[in-house]
Amino acid sequence: MAKKERLDKILANMGYGSRKDVKKLIKEGRVEVNNKIEKKNDLRINPYNTLIKIDGEKIFYRKYIYLMMNKPKDVVSSTDDPVNRTVLDLLEEEHLIFNPFPAGRLDKDTEGLLLLTNDGKLAHELLSPKKGVNKTYYAEVDGFVEESYIDRFKEGIILDDGYKTLPSKLEILESSAFSKVKLTIKEGKFHQVKRMFEAFNMEVVYLKRISMGGLELDKNLSLGEYRELTEKEIQLLKENN
Ligand code: URA
Repeated sequence: MAKKERLDKILANMGYGSRKDVKKLIKEGRVEVNNKIEKKNDLRINPYNTLIKIDGEKIFYRKYIYLMMNKPKDVVSSTDDPVNRTVLDLLEEEHLIFNPFPAGRLDKDTEGLLLLTNDGKLAHELLSPKKGVNKTYYAEVDGFVEESYIDRFKEGIILDDGYKTLPSKLEILESSAFSKVKLTIKEGKFHQVKRMFEAFNMEVVYLKRISMGGLELDKNLSLGEYRELTEKEIQLLKENN
């Protein structure tokens, strides 16, 4: 069972201002607990099963937030950047108040599935090399990707720094002067997909992540859009990892 917490702390955690701001809200009689105006800042309640209202509006308490974004190009997946727009710049205030951060990185020119959360434990598990969470990318590559590459990717590719990648799964969607492939890897080395093709002297000209840890990018999300994960998707991520 969730433990009891102070009313002012609960409201501040929910983003209704600093502890000082919420104390003022409470003092002004704008906060109700179980349909009664409550003026005690330090009242201890279980926020998950207590009816709290501010100015008559019900509050739904939650600690964690999980967002799926379709990251566009030219936006960096860090929380702070002196030059570029970051993925946080694409979030609404109602989600920013939870202080989410990207669970993993995509290059500036990579599009697709990016998970943002404030659940440090889940983020850590998704990124842990030990867990080897599957990440699938759709890539367009300059040059013919041949059938024989499938086994080479399965065996592991030696990157420019001598590192041999773990087995990965290559699917060729189209083999032509401008090939289209899907690649599933269990690691997240710097520029990994691009460097795996560089080992064949090929350039990745377009890259998009389409799934991660069993979670598929929602096709209804346009570039730059995001939505909260459903309960089912959150469970899926937790079970898969
Ligand atoms: N591999 C890359 O090369 N870039 C990414 O953004 C993700 C995987």
